[in-house]
Amino acid sequence: MKKVDETRIDDLLSQLTLEEKISMIHGEGIFQTAAVERLGIPALKMSDGPMGVRKEFALDQWINVSSTDDQVSYLPSNSALASTWSREQAYKTGKVLGAEARGRGKDVILAPGINIKRSPICGRNFEYMSEDPRLIEELVAPLIKGIQENDVAACVKHFAANNQETDRLAVDTYLDKRSLREIYFPGFKAAIDKGGSYTIMGAYNRLFGEHSSQSEYLLTSILRDEWGYDGAVISDWGGVHDTREAGQSGLDIEMSVDGDFDNYYMADPLLEAVRSSKIKEEYIDKKIRNILRTMLRLNMLGDDRRDRATGTYNSPEHQRAILECAEESIILLKNQDNRLPIQKDKIKTLAVIGQNAERVHASGGGSAEIKALYEISPLLGLKMQLGGEVEVKYAKGYYVPTKIEKELNWQQDSLKLLQEAVLLAKETDEVIIIAGLDHEYDCEGKDREDMKLPYGQDRLIKEVLAVNPNAVVVIVAGSPVEMGAWSDDAKAIVWSYYAGMEGGRALAKVLLGQVNPSGKLAETFPKKLMDSPAHSIGEFGKYGKVTYKEGVYVGYRYFDSYNVEPEFPFGHGLSYTSFEYSNLEIELDESSVEDDVNVRVRATIRNTGALAGAEVVQVYVASKEASIPRPIHELKGFDKLYLEPNEEKIVEICLHKDSFGFYDEDGCSFLVEPGEYEIQVGSSSRDIRLTENIKLNKKYRYQ
Ligand code: BGC
Repeated sequence: MKKVDETRIDDLLSQLTLEEKISMIHGEGIFQTAAVERLGIPALKMSDGPMGVRKEFALDQWINVSSTDDQVSYLPSNSALASTWSREQAYKTGKVLGAEARGRGKDVILAPGINIKRSPICGRNFEYMSEDPRLIEELVAPLIKGIQENDVAACVKHFAANNQETDRLAVDTYLDKRSLREIYFPGFKAAIDKGGSYTIMGAYNRLFGEHSSQSEYLLTSILRDEWGYDGAVISDWGGVHDTREAGQSGLDIEMSVDGDFDNYYMADPLLEAVRSSKIKEEYIDKKIRNILRTMLRLNMLGDDRRDRATGTYNSPEHQRAILECAEESIILLKNQDNRLPIQKDKIKTLAVIGQNAERVHASGGGSAEIKALYEISPLLGLKMQLGGEVEVKYAKGYYVPTKIEKELNWQQDSLKLLQEAVLLAKETDEVIIIAGLDHEYDCEGKDREDMKLPYGQDRLIKEVLAVNPNAVVVIVAGSPVEMGAWSDDAKAIVWSYYAGMEGGRALAKVLLGQVNPSGKLAETFPKKLMDSPAHSIGEFGKYGKVTYKEGVYVGYRYFDSYNVEPEFPFGHGLSYTSFEYSNLEIELDESSVEDDVNVRVRATIRNTGALAGAEVVQVYVASKEASIPRPIHELKGFDKLYLEPNEEKIVEICLHKDSFGFYDEDGCSFLVEPGEYEIQVGSSSRDIRLTENIKLNKKYRYQ
């Protein structure tokens, strides 16, 4: 974490009155704190969010300012970014997000969201990265570095165990400490230790009875005392519920959604509590220190301001970076008989079926909404890339009812659209169905009811495939959907998360073979909801208390350990070329570094097809002699290799003790047991190509 001159903090702190200090620790605007002009301390200006800088709000009311100067670049969602499995894309995306935030005059960008995808139907999954902590750890650090190079603070959120939207302001989460440490904490710890996130956001939910945004356990014991965090902790908007608890916890800034700023818990009520000696002023001083330290890190104070990075928004470079990231995020799930790519010079007519072909998504979803400068839909992208030589015929295929219509009989209209689409599918050379979800479903504040495709899309896909078995199925969505009704019949299935303003162009380039897909699933796609461990073993979506009974068996840790067949496994994603894995070599060294192990995993990867392409090589570790039940294997390393046809490269991935341990609740630390471990190298969690066993002779502990 960036070091600052602490004497400058002492100096400013000694000059601040109690009233001024209180004014700095709560919202004095919907998205900002108060300035103390007398001392040259500016307001801290914040904005959502993870997919770009949100539209402007009135200072003191939750009302959008209707202007056109807050249109911005719309970035790929974190789900899309995670599907690239690329640290480089994470860094570049961070750079764009930070520059745009700075360009809009913000100090804190309320991103990234990194909560674990515990259930496939959590409404905010589209904003999050993965079900796997190691993948999150590896991507969150470069993402945050990219943001903060612009002298804008990242605000990694929502700490912690914030995995459902139902009853989101009050739900009380219970889980064992081992799962917290192994699954739910590592992303946040890496955001701080490796990414150096200047700020962090508390969550809405309760954990062990305490509201996360004012939790003694989370914010004081874990974050401050154990992890030594000295950045600023910001509450989620309306996440504070008690003056004493918030005042004495590791929380620094209370934010909320209404304009009655003086009555926030950490405003007048806290001032009163300090004045009457119910709460010690030293708690307030700690908060001020963390806030001033953050401002120093951002070059916001005094003469430092001259050195502060400047930003910009909507630059052509940003649009290019967004396109590249989107291209790498698209996942080829199935490609029987090399159905894809479509050869555009061999066709005269193309039917594009399904409303997600023409729908744009930027402005929905909740706080991740974006007033995008533009958004290229899949249909627009296809037409742009086809060059005018192919006649594109579009059929909506299904009807998307408005909220009021949902109550009425809209199915009749839908049936007409379906018949029209099926007819069109019969008479064109190529058919692409573009189905999926939208932000009515992938949405903050509510979870989905099930994993089914809405609007009768399963029937549409089935009927189109019945008349044209070559039809390509594309799903644009933010979270997994059931595909069993048609996945066996479809020869090609392509997946795109909400991939930003260039998403439609990126998708078209993949479909037409101008880009070789290289995205991989950062989450398991279950066949059906009840296969998912949060539902089959644990509790999800309840009001009140929710217990994570599945423990550490989240995502593939469950599917692979318990042999439950997924629709598509974690880490899966095909290419238009093929890769061969060979020559696994493992070097084990337990003596040259004190209290650590070095395991060097090397393998040769060869592009055996005719096209250049990229492969994400994944390393899983399986503990063979553990004294407690452990997942059958866990992702511990990966690398993305770009290979020309026939080219081969040696991938080298180094593992250390933190790739072998489990959290030992009795010892209050991670423990690596001596014994045998299998090192697996593969192309997905279920496509392991090479394995070798190693034996660790020593025992290690780490935090
Ligand atoms: C969301 C946060 C968001 C905040 C400010 C909350 O409802 O949970 O993710 O940053 O609002 O808009």
